[in-house]
Amino acid sequence: MTRTSDDPAPGPDGAAAAIGLGHADSPEALRTRVAGLLERSRARSTALTDAVDEADLVAQHSPLMSPLVWDLAHIGSQEELWLVRDVGGREPLRPEIDGLYDAFRHSRASRIGLPLLGPADTRAYVAEVREKALDALGRSPLRGRRLEHEAFAFGMIVQHEQQHDETMLATHQLRTGAPVLHAEAPPAPPAPLAARTGPREVLVPAGAFTQGTSGEPWALDNERPAHTVELPAYWIDVHPVTNGEYAEFVAAGGYEDARWWSEAGWAHRREEGLVAPRFWARDGGTGEWWRRRFGVVERVPADEPVVHVCFHEAAAYARWSGKRLPTEAEWEKAARFDPASGRSRRYPWGDEEPTPRHANLGQRHLRPAAVGAYPEGASPLGVEQLIGDVWEWCDSGWHPYPGFEAFPYEEYSAVFFGGDYKVLRGGSFGTDESAIRTTFRNWDHPIRRQIFAGFRCARDAAPGDTERVI
Ligand code: AVJ
Ligand code: FE
Repeated sequence: MTRTSDDPAPGPDGAAAAIGLGHADSPEALRTRVAGLLERSRARSTALTDAVDEADLVAQHSPLMSPLVWDLAHIGSQEELWLVRDVGGREPLRPEIDGLYDAFRHSRASRIGLPLLGPADTRAYVAEVREKALDALGRSPLRGRRLEHEAFAFGMIVQHEQQHDETMLATHQLRTGAPVLHAEAPPAPPAPLAARTGPREVLVPAGAFTQGTSGEPWALDNERPAHTVELPAYWIDVHPVTNGEYAEFVAAGGYEDARWWSEAGWAHRREEGLVAPRFWARDGGTGEWWRRRFGVVERVPADEPVVHVCFHEAAAYARWSGKRLPTEAEWEKAARFDPASGRSRRYPWGDEEPTPRHANLGQRHLRPAAVGAYPEGASPLGVEQLIGDVWEWCDSGWHPYPGFEAFPYEEYSAVFFGGDYKVLRGGSFGTDESAIRTTFRNWDHPIRRQIFAGFRCARDAAPGDTERVI
């Protein structure tokens, strides 16, 4: 039988001992932990919105994005809705502004036209909400009622704020001008210990594994429930595709050859005149590729995972290279299946939460790390950099798992099922540790490039394939 950290009533080696979030905590310890995470997300939101002047805060930097001041007030609005009104049982603080920050009432492109709160009012509003949310945290038993059990609502709101912090980071990347995110440049990510000598791809054996989760306390509705998935054997790359590898595809005329593209991908490539990843530009003299990253222009580093490509570009590269994108289930099995125990892990490296040795997360470096930089983050099968660095496009649409139940609201996941979306996995350098795990599912339109997304390749195994160095 396939064992998983989601199995109920785990023994001393199981989920209860392993999971830092909730399970083993007293309400008091859980309160302390939640307060710390709320503080961390707010520090990030504050840094991302204090980094620019007021004109920049209220401006629309791209029709793909909200004004930063909208994201900040929306963060407060969601926190008010779930923590202050629902958990805390209070009346609306400012009922007249509710509709403005409802993501479903107003498209991102149209938010600039709304009578939004200005920067000072927005900051006062989110501070007032936070004070009352902390009061609710002190009063909730953090058990019993499903929304409050194991502090779920608080975990959901922490993750929501962090998701918008990543979105705001993408807005900063889209800003022209000279954005300053930190007074000092962030520390460089770790370098690979040695030149790449290991296998470039690993064989994932045929068989069943547990996809999704039932026991992870703060998993969102779309990650549930845990269920068994049977897959044939396949090969998957140890690392995401790098800039250097992607540049070979560009140099080989990959963008001019319809053979590599799907019909929709080719039509999109032509309409938009795509010739390279977003933010890349070629030096007219030398022909070298340069990129703009948070306002700084630099040579494209060959050994970092490629970022700012859409699904169609990822799929075209994969076909050109003789491979394909992994499905979502293939990505998850490579990330968490432990063939020795038959169990699915919470993270590739085990059940312990990410540390800076495991993965490039938390806006710590503000760039992907070179491939090979996180050997300690490898999965049992030897696949690296699954968590952090870049979101990875998968060849799967956005669908519910068998037994899915919307919770606590339909508009998080359910209303998007079956739409024109592709799944992304693993998180990026812009994703917080609290908002990513091997079961976490993200989705976006297949044409989107402003997100911090790259990909890795996979291919079918042939009968008789065995593990070997390629
Ligand atoms: C899960 C990243 C697709 O940003 O649209 C934020 C997350 N949902 N507020 C998004 C989200 C509601 C969502 N993604
Ligand atoms: Fe939101």
